[in-house]
Amino acid sequence: MPTTTHTIQGYKKQNRKIVALTAYDYSTAKVLDNAGVDIVLVGDSLAQVALGHENTLSLTMDEMLHHAKAVVRGVRSALVVVDLPFLSYQVSKKKAVYNAGKCLQIGAHAVKLEGASRDILKTIEKMVSVGIPVLGHIGFTPQSVNVLGGNKVQGKSAEAAKDLLKQAKDLQEAGCFAIVIELVPSEVAAMITENINIPTIGIGAGPDTDGQILVTDDLLGKFVDFKPSFVRHYAETGKDANNAVKNFIYDVQNKRYPQINESFFMAEPEAQKIKS
Ligand code: KIV
Repeated sequence: MPTTTHTIQGYKKQNRKIVALTAYDYSTAKVLDNAGVDIVLVGDSLAQVALGHENTLSLTMDEMLHHAKAVVRGVRSALVVVDLPFLSYQVSKKKAVYNAGKCLQIGAHAVKLEGASRDILKTIEKMVSVGIPVLGHIGFTPQSVNVLGGNKVQGKSAEAAKDLLKQAKDLQEAGCFAIVIELVPSEVAAMITENINIPTIGIGAGPDTDGQILVTDDLLGKFVDFKPSFVRHYAETGKDANNAVKNFIYDVQNKRYPQINESFFMAEPEAQKIKS
């Protein structure tokens, strides 16, 4: 059964944890979907993880759509959410709705955007009113890294925590079907989760959110430029890949690859003709 935003909301009521991971390409999306992940997010972390940028700010809408199309082709059952890149939704409501609509036209099911300012709330309301489901995102919002002064935990004071709760309630009111909460103290994420009706999906937000999301390349130990303390490596794909490539280099240089069963051969009469 395809997962819908209603399925995701039902999981909160059933007290069933929601599992979300990122994908930027067809084969990764297929692995996640076959494994049973609930939400596949085409995160704008794509800028750093797949494209090698320092932060998420330089990602364009065209680049995002290019990757999102590949992810959509790899998913049969999970909910596909596309992260709207920086500047694709902040400049005007009209442009935001158009760009979000593009994501649905290529087969994604929802979009994610960061923040809960007055303008953002109005934009979300408009998107939802025209049929575009929205996943909110509060706490550390990577597209505001320069305003926030780095990758810092948010909501550490009681006042800041109350402000985050207000943001979560406003996003719920605006029509978000769920909210990502990034880099906040566990108590704050738990308090928000208890006080809103829509699901919360945490990243670096402790164990008490309704679900968890991670960047897949982090979980697989593939992206090793930096490792946030909340990340757990469930595999060492980076090291395994490095060893595999070294073995390939060795085999080629020592004529151990390819072997007979890895090669093609002509029929004997034809082979004779090119020997003379
Ligand atoms: O871009 C991203 O990967 C995200 C996270 C919440 C995983 O937004």
